[in-house]
Amino acid sequence: MTFFRGNTIRPPVVAPHTKIPIYANLVDREAIRAACRFNAQVMDFIRPHIQIGISTSEIDELVYNYTIEQGHTPACLGYNGYPNTICTSVNEVVCHGVPGGYRLKDADIVNIDLTTIVRGWHGDQSETFLVGNVSPEARRLVQAAFDSLWVGIHAIKPFGRVIDIGRAIYRFAKDQGYEIVREFQGHGVGRAFHQEPGIPHFPDQQTGKAVIRPGTCFTIEPMLNEGTWKTEVDITDGWTVRTQDRRLSAQFEHTILMTEKGPEIMTLTKDGPREGHKF
Ligand code: MF3
Ligand code: CO
Ligand code: CO
Repeated sequence: MTFFRGNTIRPPVVAPHTKIPIYANLVDREAIRAACRFNAQVMDFIRPHIQIGISTSEIDELVYNYTIEQGHTPACLGYNGYPNTICTSVNEVVCHGVPGGYRLKDADIVNIDLTTIVRGWHGDQSETFLVGNVSPEARRLVQAAFDSLWVGIHAIKPFGRVIDIGRAIYRFAKDQGYEIVREFQGHGVGRAFHQEPGIPHFPDQQTGKAVIRPGTCFTIEPMLNEGTWKTEVDITDGWTVRTQDRRLSAQFEHTILMTEKGPEIMTLTKDGPREGHKF
């Protein structure tokens, strides 16, 4: 007979017949909450620095130093060989923009994607920032990307399916005249940075069948494009993802835990845009 320490019985590690980790006990849930709470705190720390003239590598360095000073670990640094702490995706860059000498200028839009490891658990989130005075077109795209994340969040319930998220986000984006990136998706997150289930932001019949049981932890991170949904990876750095037509792309991301009562948004910030925010 095996006894477990703690006040809860250990659940199965994965949902039946899947590779989806289930975080059913309070100890695991508090651990992922703490990681996401810290990650959100990093976003609040960096927010005032996103201004005209700062370079993307300066932003990266600020986040690296803050994370280390607080005793935590940057998740991206060294992940599959990624060279930096954060991703900085400017204008036509869809995601995985590598920080460097580029200085933010008036009318840019820039996505800052942060992931931190706290006691072995990951928090993952991103926001797109308007730099100075942006065009009405760019502002409308950023608004739609932000709103589409919330549309996705409201589309899910305990024991719902992954496809509910993609259906809702895809329809919303198309109604606004935007395309949804397909090659990059949301993902399970927790003890690992990327795990099952995959979360496409369009209705994918195959992966969409997965059931979102209570205890499933995952991201929603839709990338909306002004023009084509097609992307290409920079051949020089092997990371930076751009729209094929070089038109603008915008993204927001939260880490979400499905609880017995519904989705809990784990990466809410104190100072950032809340649901319903108008850019
Ligand atoms: N944070 C990104 C995501 O949302 C992943 C970045 S992986 C890296 O999944 F290696 F590019 F950092
Ligand atoms: Co993510
Ligand atoms: Co991310």
